[in-house]
Amino acid sequence: MIEFDTTNSTIEDLYKHRSIRAYKTAPLSKELITQVVTAGQRASTSSNLQQYSVVIITDQAKRDKLAELCGGQKHISQAPVFMAWCADVSRLRRAAARVNAPNEIGYVENFLVSAVDAALAMQNAAVAAESLGLGMCYIGGIRNNSQAVIDLLQLPEGVFPVSGMTLGWPDANPIHRPRLDVNAIMFWDTYGTDNEEALLEAYDDKMIETGIYDGRQIPADPNNPNAKPQRYGWQSHSLRRVSAPKRVEMSDVLKKQGFKLK
Ligand SMILES: Cc1cc2nc3c(=O)[nH]c(=O)nc-3n(C[C@H](O)[C@H](O)[C@H](O)COP(=O)(O)O)c2cc1C
Repeated sequence: MIEFDTTNSTIEDLYKHRSIRAYKTAPLSKELITQVVTAGQRASTSSNLQQYSVVIITDQAKRDKLAELCGGQKHISQAPVFMAWCADVSRLRRAAARVNAPNEIGYVENFLVSAVDAALAMQNAAVAAESLGLGMCYIGGIRNNSQAVIDLLQLPEGVFPVSGMTLGWPDANPIHRPRLDVNAIMFWDTYGTDNEEALLEAYDDKMIETGIYDGRQIPADPNNPNAKPQRYGWQSHSLRRVSAPKRVEMSDVLKKQGFKLK
């Protein structure tokens, strides 16, 4: 069990978050979806450039296709709404083209700014949705086959899907996953790692206690037989997740989408 901070309803709502991977089939109205996205737009945005967009997908056949493209994630088919949150520098490019103005918005800086903008908006939308009793789950799997997603959603140059999000009325009551001790991620004045090992070991204990890894352990990397055996906790699980290169084609897809990445 995590300890809730109930100082006020905003903080309490943040503590209540958990990703929902089972949904009731009831559709969501356009008004409700629009309300959630509009609240998302209230997030800060770099220089007020608002370099992000979101494509809403309710069509069942398209959600089924996206479920497949995102690595066979059934909750994408099941949730009535899938949102594709995108970094988007294309709007300002079109505005520049209309008045023959120069624009230099394809660099790493611009990708980072637009991806951060998208992340802030989607997290605001997530908090708004949860405050209304809706459930959500981010879908990084949208980057498993980014080119196919770009084609399916007809994303123009300058638009890249950063994360998906399933949305709907929850049909599950999952646990609140404990987080790392705040002192493992928060430092005063200078970065420090003095107590890190002990904090990570303590977190392993907490996560093992939830039973979350029972029946879903990632196999050890057969190419690394010299790795020291570990008990299966957060460290072991996470190290197995990061032991192989992932989505290595992404820089090529980004370049094809008009992000120079220089
Ligand atoms: C950017 C991002 C991508 C994610 N991608 C997926 C995903 O593809 N599928 C999924 O089921 N959960 C996904 N998640 C959810 C995380 O697994 C989840 O947030 C994490 O395990 C913590 O659990 P909690 O959200 O219930 O607290 C993603 C989360 C983030 C922030």
